[in-house]
Amino acid sequence: MNKFMLERLVSKKEKLIQKYTFYKTFLPISINEKEEKLNKKIEYLQKNKELTLKQYAINAGIKVDYLEAEKANKLQKLEEKYSLKNKALKQSKLRALKKQDETEVNKIFDEKIKTLLASKEAEKEKLNNYYAPSDHIDESLTVYKEKETEINTILEAKEKVLKDNYNQSVKKQTERVKNKVKDLEQKIENLTKQIDKAKSSIEDLTYGINDEVLLRLKDLTMRFGGLLAVDKLSFDVKKGEIFGLIGPNGAGKTTVFNCLTKFYNPTAGEMYYRKNELEVTKLNDYQVHNIVKLGIVRTFQNVELIWELSILDNLLVAAHTNYQTGFFGQLIHTRGLAREEKVYRNKALKILKDLNLLQYQYAYPLGLPYGILKRVELARTLMTNPRLIILDEPAAGLNDAETEELSKTIRKIRDEYNTTIFLVEHDMGLVMDVCDTVCAISFGKKLAIGTPKEIQANKLVREAYLGEE
Ligand SMILES: Nc1ncnc2c1ncn2[C@@H]1O[C@H](COP(=O)(O)OP(=O)(O)OP(=O)(O)O)[C@@H](O)[C@H]1O
Ligand SMILES: [Mg+2]
Repeated sequence: MNKFMLERLVSKKEKLIQKYTFYKTFLPISINEKEEKLNKKIEYLQKNKELTLKQYAINAGIKVDYLEAEKANKLQKLEEKYSLKNKALKQSKLRALKKQDETEVNKIFDEKIKTLLASKEAEKEKLNNYYAPSDHIDESLTVYKEKETEINTILEAKEKVLKDNYNQSVKKQTERVKNKVKDLEQKIENLTKQIDKAKSSIEDLTYGINDEVLLRLKDLTMRFGGLLAVDKLSFDVKKGEIFGLIGPNGAGKTTVFNCLTKFYNPTAGEMYYRKNELEVTKLNDYQVHNIVKLGIVRTFQNVELIWELSILDNLLVAAHTNYQTGFFGQLIHTRGLAREEKVYRNKALKILKDLNLLQYQYAYPLGLPYGILKRVELARTLMTNPRLIILDEPAAGLNDAETEELSKTIRKIRDEYNTTIFLVEHDMGLVMDVCDTVCAISFGKKLAIGTPKEIQANKLVREAYLGEE
């Protein structure tokens, strides 16, 4: 097997893994949707039943509480309506008196008031007739009760059918997904075996960097004229960890960040990134706009959302850059696209739900609290299945409660979205709370690397970062 064939297997496996996570995570959402539909249908049946019974009660002339209330309400509205009409009439009479002879005006308006009263009485009578009790109330009441039982029985039967259908459909879907998941598991396992066996037949593409490492900086150096902003910095970021880079003002944190995202070209040193299980690639060789293709996404220090779009649409737009259907497919809105849109919509809703943002889905960013917007930015990065999320001072501008919420969110993302997080941060609290590994730098040089506890206890770090003697 050659390198090309093996690469195809690896990318096939990655696609299968994506599919696999998709099936597993989106089943609950789909079931939820079905349940909502069911509840709506049942609600509709209930309403229908109430209307039918009410109409029956009116036709049969039965006194029922809610009809009494309805009648009283209508009568009151009627009184109000005619009192307004009466007022209007009086006013136009006053106006007429200024221009015309008094007896003439009186005559005309007496007539008008008479007509008005007559039509009021007519309307009242109509109302009374509509709600008039029957001569055979007892008899009607029995029929009404029977009718009610009958309707209830029908309703119950209909509800049962709906619920049975729902249960069956959920069961079927769950079964189908379960089989699909099992099938995918099997396929992935087979591919893994195939890949492992074939790996040895091609040259090593990993620079000898082991599987666990997602990102390696080796002697990274960035010089601005006479200033060494980053000085032979080396460290590893492991797959699946939350990694924090800290340091005092001007230490070079942002510069490291900008080198990684290829905003700057480093003066010297290497940045290795594990592209897939086969290959490690050098970020040095990439350009800014290609970085995202490697699954590296960043958030900006300032919130950058599209203000004219709802939160949900902001997420969908992010997915758009990743649509599988081609350009022409999107133009003619093929079935494939419709399905894809549904998938992305479900995905966006799932992400919003996970990040506690579901209630904002239709809201617009303008006017939402800063902490919420920060979380929306994080949500948006998840739409493109990132492998490495780089956060530029995510806690900047947040209050304590918001920072705490952010810690939770970051951890949740790492745990549930199978991703690695690299953050540059001033806020010591957040770093110590959320990071697995912390690297402290000063004047572009590494001071120490370790667990938050180790870093906090480190003498060099305390001297440099906390200004202790
Ligand atoms: N584009 C640039 N041109 C010249 N000097 C720069 C440039 N960017 C950064 N520097 C310098 O490099 C050093 C490191 O800056 P950097 O912004 O990386 O620090 P930082 O650790 O992010 O600091 P802060 O905590 O204040 O954000 C500083 O002395 C800075 O003045
Ligand atoms: Mg900075």
